[in-house]
Amino acid sequence: MADPAHEPVAAMAGGGLYNRHSGLQHANLQSALPLLAAAARIIGEQSHGPVAIVDYGASQGRNSMVPMATAIDLVRLRDAERAVQVVHTDLPSNDFASLFALLDRDPASYVAGRDNIYPSAIGRSYFDQLLPSGSVDLGWSSNALHWMSHSPVDVADHGWAVFSQSADARAAVDAVLADDWLRFLTSRRAEMRPGGQLICQFMGRGPDSHGFEWMAGHYWQSIVTLRDEGWLTDAETQRMTAPSAGRSLVQVAAPFASNIVPELMLDHLSLVESPDPYWDEYRQSGDAARLGWQWAHMMRAANGPNLVAALDPSRDPDMLLDLLVDRLAARIAADPQRSLAFNVLLAIRRVA
Ligand SMILES: C[S@@+](CC[C@H](N)C(=O)[O-])C[C@H]1O[C@@H](n2cnc3c(N)ncnc32)[C@H](O)[C@@H]1O
Repeated sequence: MADPAHEPVAAMAGGGLYNRHSGLQHANLQSALPLLAAAARIIGEQSHGPVAIVDYGASQGRNSMVPMATAIDLVRLRDAERAVQVVHTDLPSNDFASLFALLDRDPASYVAGRDNIYPSAIGRSYFDQLLPSGSVDLGWSSNALHWMSHSPVDVADHGWAVFSQSADARAAVDAVLADDWLRFLTSRRAEMRPGGQLICQFMGRGPDSHGFEWMAGHYWQSIVTLRDEGWLTDAETQRMTAPSAGRSLVQVAAPFASNIVPELMLDHLSLVESPDPYWDEYRQSGDAARLGWQWAHMMRAANGPNLVAALDPSRDPDMLLDLLVDRLAARIAADPQRSLAFNVLLAIRRVA
């Protein structure tokens, strides 16, 4: 059950919006595909019978199509007819209709041209066990695990508590990150069969700086502008503290270092600089307005719902999101930069 003491974290913007504005996340997950491919090969060789693949934090599915197709094909190298069950999980508020429409009709669907594939979905937080014990062969999670179970503290000086001047606020974030990570690992340990593999990619924290400061700063300043223009109250602005933060490698490795989850083996852990496909395109085109438009729409698709949840009930959310996109796009166009951010990549195996 969701904890009634905490405001639920909102899923990505519905109506397929996240699917249309997640090119950055698509670029991010590429660096984890070799880990997924290696894990899928091992699963295919070691196990027999139907295979269960779980996609944790799938959203509307566009970015899951290539990873799932890759895993299915490698699992089936030895037996082309092998039944594969693919379970997409996300929060209850997720736009699962867009996911199923894509699976059913889009040429990019991993179901297209493949038989004996059984997709399904679960609308529940992955900080709980979602599937029967010992039933999962291969887990995958991209661009999701930096979302916390809840925001531990609302801060007045930034849109993310991890960037606040308050050391107490940053410590509260770290405490939730640690607790969430342990809950995620404990739940997966229960679900994975011995020999099962789990591959994750999510936003990390760099060695010298957290990363994502440029975009997070402009996003926050756009909200401040709306407040100064009279569109938002101070209380709404403070409630907009986003429930996400990157983990350092030390934070990710902590449960393994202290052997709290002895059944899970950390086979791979690394931190890589995130790609910036919007910047790459801008370098070709020189079109700063398009750079601003791309970032602003991606931020709306990913962060808009949590921002809307902070509004007073009398507000017009779409109008305010339009204003936010406008202000943010203008700021980015006036300050084009390559975003410096980091991705954690990891591979975990259940050994017992
Ligand atoms: C940025 S999207 C990533 C979607 C997709 N995997 C990708 O790579 O583009 C993050 C997803 O994680 C989901 N999410 C966040 N917290 C979650 C939780 N506790 N349980 C399940 N899903 C969660 C969000 O609802 C959202 O759909």
